[in-house]
Amino acid sequence: MKYTLVILCFVFMASVMNMFCQPGSSLPDDEIALGKQLFFDSILSSTGNISCASCHRPEFAFADTARVSIGVHGRQGVRNTPSAMNLNSAAFFFWDGRATTLAEQALIPISNPDEMNLPVDSAVSRLNNSRYYKAAFRKIYKTAPCSANIGSALAAFQVSMETLDTPFDDWKANQNEDAVSESVKRGFVLFNGTAKCVRCHFGPDFSNTEFRNIGLYNGRELRDSGRAAITRNPADLGKFKIGPLRNVALTAPYMHNGMFSTLRAVIDYYDQPDNFVKDAVNRDPLLATPLNLSDQDKTDLENFLRSLTGKSLVSL
Ligand code: HEC
Ligand code: HEC
Repeated sequence: MKYTLVILCFVFMASVMNMFCQPGSSLPDDEIALGKQLFFDSILSSTGNISCASCHRPEFAFADTARVSIGVHGRQGVRNTPSAMNLNSAAFFFWDGRATTLAEQALIPISNPDEMNLPVDSAVSRLNNSRYYKAAFRKIYKTAPCSANIGSALAAFQVSMETLDTPFDDWKANQNEDAVSESVKRGFVLFNGTAKCVRCHFGPDFSNTEFRNIGLYNGRELRDSGRAAITRNPADLGKFKIGPLRNVALTAPYMHNGMFSTLRAVIDYYDQPDNFVKDAVNRDPLLATPLNLSDQDKTDLENFLRSLTGKSLVSL
């Protein structure tokens, strides 16, 4: 009898804990904390083993090291996973810009058959069936989980991830001349000058709200038409989003198709695009003539790109 009471008491305590606590944690304090929890929770995938963080991995600046990531049932997507950080100056999301807000974007991987493969309605009911999430959403939004607040929470978490603790920012924002090497400083001059990078990558995240074609479409083995698939405008063939360069040293491989495995290969490409793709369709005039960079120039540009890496990420 005594033991039965103890056991009953234990079961009661355990269910109270289940009501208020997710694996060892209390309810989130704000939208960002809730979004973070959802980002790392595989409850949003049909198979229960893929979360946003399976492909957007914190140690790689919330990108992936694979050319294309693996979703549920080992399925492969067709594009390289971009970083989910430093998106505050973006006006479009995905390589082809098919989403215009982070909240809208966040629901798309959940139902994508190659990624999490869970209809959004099912995701909403799963969260409503979890006492923990029901309580968490009520606390933050005063309402039950629904598609709008799931998107909003995931967006809030991603918006909170701007990387400002870089050697570059130490140099430029804090005017610490010793924060970066002379090579980084020369690389920055090249980036803004003869290498023409700044014509497309600028602003706080070295990104752009335009779509451009750097020559990675030839309609044959390079056949991702990019922005044109969304706008149906032939002038947009081979145009892709210009993503942020912050933390780029951590997010190899590069480009929408992950075709370059190092930053040096990216720089070699911009230097002599014809050495890589001879029959590009609609390539941007900015890449019409080779840059003819020296070996030292290339090293300097690479070192500049490396100086955009957050110090807190390096220590992960
Ligand atoms: C199976 C791997 C995978 C999973 C899981 C996944 N993503 Fe992605 N994510 C990608 C790929 C690949 C792209 C690029 C797809 C494209 O452009 O068509 C992408 C693009 C994005 C972008 C756009 C970034 C930009 O620069 O435009 C954001 C933001 C993002 N994902 C957030 C999320 C969130 C939030 C989740 C979870 C709800 C998630 N992802 C789940 C692979 C994944
Ligand atoms: C004409 C505009 C343009 C110019 C000039 C340009 N870029 Fe880009 N950059 C882009 C676009 C568009 C992409 C995405 C292309 C794709 O995936 O097909 C990109 C992608 C990149 C990436 C890969 C990002 C990732 O997450 O995969 C790096 C790194 C990069 N550019 C660096 C540079 C550097 C360094 C220079 C100067 C040498 C430069 N860019 C010049 C438009 C440009």
